[in-house]
Amino acid sequence: MSETKYRYGIIGTGIPWREEGSSGFGMAHAHYPSMMKNERAELVAFSELQDSRAQYFQQKQNTKVSHYHSYTEMLAKENLDIVSICTWPHLHAEITVAAVDAGVKAIYCEKPMATNWGDCKRMKAAADEKGVLLCFNHQRRHIKLFQEVRRAVQEGEIGEIVQIEAECGNLYDWGTHWLDMMFFYNNDEPAEWVIGQINSSTENVAFGAKMEDQAVLNFKWKNGVRGTMVTGDLAKIGAVHRLIGTDGVIEVLNERNYRILGKGIGEWKHIEVPQGDWSDLALAAKDVVRALDEPGYKPLISADHAIQSTEIIFATYRSSQIHGRVDLPLSYDGNGLLDLMSAGAFGK
Ligand SMILES: NC(=O)c1ccc[n+]([C@@H]2O[C@H](COP(=O)([O-])OP(=O)(O)OC[C@H]3O[C@@H](n4cnc5c(N)ncnc54)[C@H](O)[C@@H]3O)[C@@H](O)[C@H]2O)c1
Repeated sequence: MSETKYRYGIIGTGIPWREEGSSGFGMAHAHYPSMMKNERAELVAFSELQDSRAQYFQQKQNTKVSHYHSYTEMLAKENLDIVSICTWPHLHAEITVAAVDAGVKAIYCEKPMATNWGDCKRMKAAADEKGVLLCFNHQRRHIKLFQEVRRAVQEGEIGEIVQIEAECGNLYDWGTHWLDMMFFYNNDEPAEWVIGQINSSTENVAFGAKMEDQAVLNFKWKNGVRGTMVTGDLAKIGAVHRLIGTDGVIEVLNERNYRILGKGIGEWKHIEVPQGDWSDLALAAKDVVRALDEPGYKPLISADHAIQSTEIIFATYRSSQIHGRVDLPLSYDGNGLLDLMSAGAFGK
């Protein structure tokens, strides 16, 4: 392994959640220390449209590296190895393609991938064509509890897995994490079809992207396991995730606790799984660097995984639009939710 540090840049710093002037979570303030923790990269520049946010970043993170307004100028001048994309999702595809064209080695992009299915495919194809490592921040794959649940399933503690369920506030923003976890539990099997229904009678927007306010979906993986998710304020399955096997059940209660009713266990057994010194995000950043150090190693947050779970989101929107099952691969490149909204399908 070379001791030369990777040249690292960030696009879109923001300001952390609830702090004055914030427009979101300021995820760059989490990417930067996470990337620095493994000491294999050095920040050489960042790009941010707003001067006040750029100054805040320099002060808060105690760095004097160059600030660019234009990310294209930064990409052209700074010869970056790794770039974090921390803007809102409508910009992820165009920035990813620009970073690939500029010759970066790795892109660590925030979730969700993009705002329509065509852009998701476009950004992944661009990276694949040039051999650029593309990752999306589905950092929950690095939460120890979820890894422990996956291990329990794979080692047959609830028999053969049959069904995986999840609930959350929405399919697009939070659901991208939970669908990713469902694929993670099921060993990243490809999915075969999706049938879903969505509603959008209230304004529901996250990071500039419109979302459904209620959804129910069911899908089948190629290994026969079924996935079910419900979203919105009315969603209720009685757990965060539920994994049903032929000989037992696991219920994930939160990111530190789960319970299992497994083979030979007569009553629920509660298990707490501490995260340890490395946060999920720091481990995710470390995994990105590892993939650069070890060609052929696939990080847990690889785009190869993200594209599978993201396809379920847009296939659900499409399913609702066509009133039927959608067989994968999804051929419709748009966003069925936005189509339905502009056609007045939800009474607006
Ligand atoms: N992984 C997670 O757990 C998690 C949590 C929260 C948010 N996110 C995701 O992170 C992304 C960013 O969200 P956020 O809350 O950090 O946003 P934010 O609003 O806090 O920061 C985004 C910044 O990007 C800047 N920006 C916009 N266009 C730009 C451009 N062309 N060039 C340079 N800078 C530009 C904005 O000025 C803003 O300061 C979103 O996709 C969101 O879904 C992920």
